Amino acid sequence: MLDFYSQFNPSPLSIKKFIDFGLNASEQKSFIFLRKELPVRLANIMKEIALLPENLLRMPSVVAVNDWYIRSFQEIIEFEKKEINHDTLNYFCDSLVKIRNRHADVVETMAQGVLELKESHDVDHQTEHSIQYFLDRFYMSRISIRMLINQHTLLFGGQLENAPGPNQSKYIGCIDPQCDIVSVIKDAYENARFLCDQYYLASPDLIINQSQHNELQQEGRINIVYVPSHLYHMLFELFKNAMRAVMEYHVSNDKYPPITVTIAKGKEDISLKMSDRGGGIARSTTEHLFKYMYSTAPQPSKSDAHTVPLAGYGYGLPISRLYARYFHGDLVLMSCEGDGTDAVIYLKALSNEANELLPIFNKTTSKFYRTMVQTGDWSNQAANVSQRTISTHYKKHQLPQESMTGAI
Ligand SMILES: Nc1ncnc2c1ncn2[C@@H]1O[C@H](COP(=O)(O)OP(=O)(O)OP(=O)(O)O)[C@@H](O)[C@H]1O
Ligand SMILES: [Mg+2]
Repeated sequence: MLDFYSQFNPSPLSIKKFIDFGLNASEQKSFIFLRKELPVRLANIMKEIALLPENLLRMPSVVAVNDWYIRSFQEIIEFEKKEINHDTLNYFCDSLVKIRNRHADVVETMAQGVLELKESHDVDHQTEHSIQYFLDRFYMSRISIRMLINQHTLLFGGQLENAPGPNQSKYIGCIDPQCDIVSVIKDAYENARFLCDQYYLASPDLIINQSQHNELQQEGRINIVYVPSHLYHMLFELFKNAMRAVMEYHVSNDKYPPITVTIAKGKEDISLKMSDRGGGIARSTTEHLFKYMYSTAPQPSKSDAHTVPLAGYGYGLPISRLYARYFHGDLVLMSCEGDGTDAVIYLKALSNEANELLPIFNKTTSKFYRTMVQTGDWSNQAANVSQRTISTHYKKHQLPQESMTGAI
């Protein structure tokens, strides 16, 4: 069955399609789409799990994750030939909720698996490279599967009252057709500032600038059709990073330079640039920023249960970039060491261009896991950056809107 479903490519949907579907489609139509699309997305990524290095596949946490995927795959394909009636539709919704709950801890369990490998084996450069490649695709696949599950259960499972935000009724599933970017920025800032105040007893202020192309000028507010919880996730992570940098760089001052967020709307992109004066990042380390488990923060310890640190696991940037890329946006960092960092989130301005970006399993993918990393053909000053790994008791950030995001 796995081989059968993995032959199909996943069908990416645009935000516009999600909305049209949410407004017009029946539960039955959604069911018919998902009972094929979910196994296809699961099978594509399960085939990739099977290509991971043997010794990683043997780690207990990876075995657990693999089992969850197998069980969920089996549960979904049960619906393949089921007669469509009221009971089947209800049972399908219940199964999706069960699957979503089963997979709630996938990110930390997989991270744990990688740690188990690092603690028990020497991990060479090639394996490290494959793992990074895999985790990007695996977590992206997870974001997309949760998006599909959330849309179906929110639209048809009577869960709309759980939607985030003040005006729940305007949501279509978890998409806000008029997402007010400024309010998401303020929300993320306030929550990061709360952590910052707790930890450093002070925090930098926020300045928001808005600019948009004259032709696009509306009533002054910049709105976007988007999943607010995804945007929130990215901003919250960037704010935590910026605040930590500012507080630690200006440690001997009692005044802290503010964090500035500039929102720009063009014809193609909406860009959110967060600028801090937190001392920046050296060029030699920038290539590591998006690596899973790269962090310069001290490891949070078990006894930290009551003080939530601003950083520690090194998952903030890579996962945020996946959220941005999921709908064909991006997240980039530009830094000047000695001054500060600009982090830019790019989002597609048009909802019909905001297509899902999904990993596809094929021959090229398989080759990637087997081919050696190319050796350099330029002289190279070996970059000797120490990479701290996350602790074995990796625990997830409790994000305020987490249950809605399916987020990580
Ligand atoms: N604005 C910034 N200024 C300076 N350094 C930064 C900034 N943003 C990120 N960094 C550096 O990049 C590293 C990785 O960031 P990332 O958010 O991925 O992980 P983290 O903040 O260490 O842990 P967490 O998983 O809790 O986010 C940080 O540890 C920090 O050294
Ligand atoms: Mg961080």
